[in-house]
Amino acid sequence: VTHAAATPALVLDRDVLERNVARMADHAAELGVELWPHVKTHKCAEVIRAQLAAGAAGVTVATPAEAELAHAAGARAILVAHPPVQADRLARIVALAAAVRVRVALDSEAAAEALDAACRAAGVEAAWLWELDCGTGRCGTAPGDATAERVAALAGRLRGARFEGLMTFGGHAYGGDVRAAAADERDALAVTAAALERRGVPVAARSAGTTPTTWALQEAGPVTELRPGNYVFHDATQVALGAAGWQDCALTVQGTVVSRPDPRRVILDAGSKALAAERMTPLTPDLGHVSGHPGLTVERLYEEHAILTAAEPVDLPVGARLAIVPNHACAAANLHARMVVLAGGVRVGEWAVAARGWDPVAQPD
Ligand SMILES: Cc1ncc(COP(=O)(O)O)c(C=O)c1O
Repeated sequence: VTHAAATPALVLDRDVLERNVARMADHAAELGVELWPHVKTHKCAEVIRAQLAAGAAGVTVATPAEAELAHAAGARAILVAHPPVQADRLARIVALAAAVRVRVALDSEAAAEALDAACRAAGVEAAWLWELDCGTGRCGTAPGDATAERVAALAGRLRGARFEGLMTFGGHAYGGDVRAAAADERDALAVTAAALERRGVPVAARSAGTTPTTWALQEAGPVTELRPGNYVFHDATQVALGAAGWQDCALTVQGTVVSRPDPRRVILDAGSKALAAERMTPLTPDLGHVSGHPGLTVERLYEEHAILTAAEPVDLPVGARLAIVPNHACAAANLHARMVVLAGGVRVGEWAVAARGWDPVAQPD
């Protein structure tokens, strides 16, 4: 399987990607919720267009560069799910609000007031979602009355930015208990929405969802919209969590065998700078999955070398090509400028990973 002239290379199976996009769109439709897929996974205009064509209500982003890419790719509604508290980020997000519907997730009075002031200064409208921590321990305040009190006060006070609802991120699903994390997401939204509605504040949007908790969701409950990102590619982490099978993994990193110092050891040119040295869950046995070679383990990664080991001698000569399913497809994609695209097993082109890095179009000074 050699699809890239040069290695290491990021290789996308478009058939699997299209199937993943369609399946998630069907899942959301069956649940009766909106889909706001997260762009950070692929940072790619072609994938955004496929998600919008499949009926996504809008897209979710983390950075201004992703937001600008989404706008350029045709998104009419964008959720910025990372508090833009810095002036430069805020300016770029508010500039987009003149052209498309913009919503910002935040969890502090300072961030809400900054957004409100920027909207009023620019004469544009934006909405905000308050983030709840349902157990991940990242952003978000505790679900319940104390948060509802703060949100109700803010919603009543701000004039430039409008309160639209609640958001939570069940990232602790990656610890292994996906069903419990999905329940935590629903509970956090239900309890806090009820507390706000008791205070006379309507909660139109209730946003949840990682890829594993979204696949695990069997009924919408309080959820009105879902934000999976990774599902377009899937990866060895999703397989370990039971959220996908190997046949659902659309993205691989291809490498070349550059050394065979031992019959049980294979050295590949795809190291941490091509594959990303991630362990998202203790359930993955190693640092990636070598397609078609179940006996090979990705034991260690150096920057430019992967050390693959096997219990038995392996017959792979120097120059052989291997494809590795990364542990974290989103992190691997961000390391490459482009993906080689396959359809029907044949190379059909390349797609740019256009908004990679934390913010490639930021201006110095
Ligand atoms: C706020 C937010 N929503 C949704 C997602 C998507 O989660 P996943 O990568 O499991 O699809 C992420 C991922 O980091 C996120 O940070």
